[in-house]
Amino acid sequence: MTHTGTPLVELRDISIAFGGIKAVDRVSVDLYPGEVVGLLGHNGAGKSTLIKCLSGAYQADSGEIFVNGEKVTINNPRDARNHNIETIYQTLALADNLDAASNLFLGRELVNNIGFVDDAQMEAETRKIMHRLNPNFKKFADPVSALSGGQRQSVAIARAVYFNAKILIMDEPTAALGPQETKMVSELVQELKRQGLGIFLISHDIHDVMELCDRVSVMKNGQLVGTENVADVTDDEILSMIILGKKPERAA
Ligand SMILES: Nc1ncnc2c1ncn2[C@@H]1O[C@H](COP(=O)(O)OP(=O)(O)O)[C@@H](O)[C@H]1O
Ligand SMILES: [Mg+2]
Repeated sequence: MTHTGTPLVELRDISIAFGGIKAVDRVSVDLYPGEVVGLLGHNGAGKSTLIKCLSGAYQADSGEIFVNGEKVTINNPRDARNHNIETIYQTLALADNLDAASNLFLGRELVNNIGFVDDAQMEAETRKIMHRLNPNFKKFADPVSALSGGQRQSVAIARAVYFNAKILIMDEPTAALGPQETKMVSELVQELKRQGLGIFLISHDIHDVMELCDRVSVMKNGQLVGTENVADVTDDEILSMIILGKKPERAA
């Protein structure tokens, strides 16, 4: 796939070191609307650190971030959210004892015209968005502690989408999930793509990535090995990028 137009987000020449160790060394990646870009690499390659510069958890030592072509400064998660960037965390930050609607609106509750929290309205909105994202979801009355990992993830994603996320960061979203649940998250990702969101998907599972992603950027020892269209590479070529840091050879 050749892209035209402006990327949703571009990380350009990002570097960050911890006590002299270059965790991320001049890495550039970008992401277009309706696209899923996988970040692959061994443990310690720098994937999470790179993406934390976008989510506002870390500040890069150098490099630039562009959102819709405009240079932005992201110093904290609030800045990221203001640019419609949301992170779906591996350990999901949901309030276990509350139901889906309360979690969706946690800290941003809807109120009625006399200032009371409007539970009916919040549940109606939650049903509407869950119907769109995960039509099989039925557990509106249960605390989220009663939900499966995949269902919890769909609540977290619904929350992000409801509050206008355009760029989603998913760090190892299927790491703790069984096959059924992984399938549910895959379907959710497909739906988000159709809605024009861009997704950075960090994973150590090359099969997940080959199935869900349009492009994949491979990192090794803090550096970018390369970015490839998934349709143009084999699993073996990607593995060789991950393990040997070697880009596929192409006939000119
Ligand atoms: N807060 C931190 N303090 C010190 N070193 C860190 C910190 N975060 C990450 N690192 C180091 O940066 C490197 C990249 O880590 P990370 O981004 O977590 O890799 P990945 O997500 O690809 O497994 C590793 O060497 C890791 O130990
Ligand atoms: Mg990581």
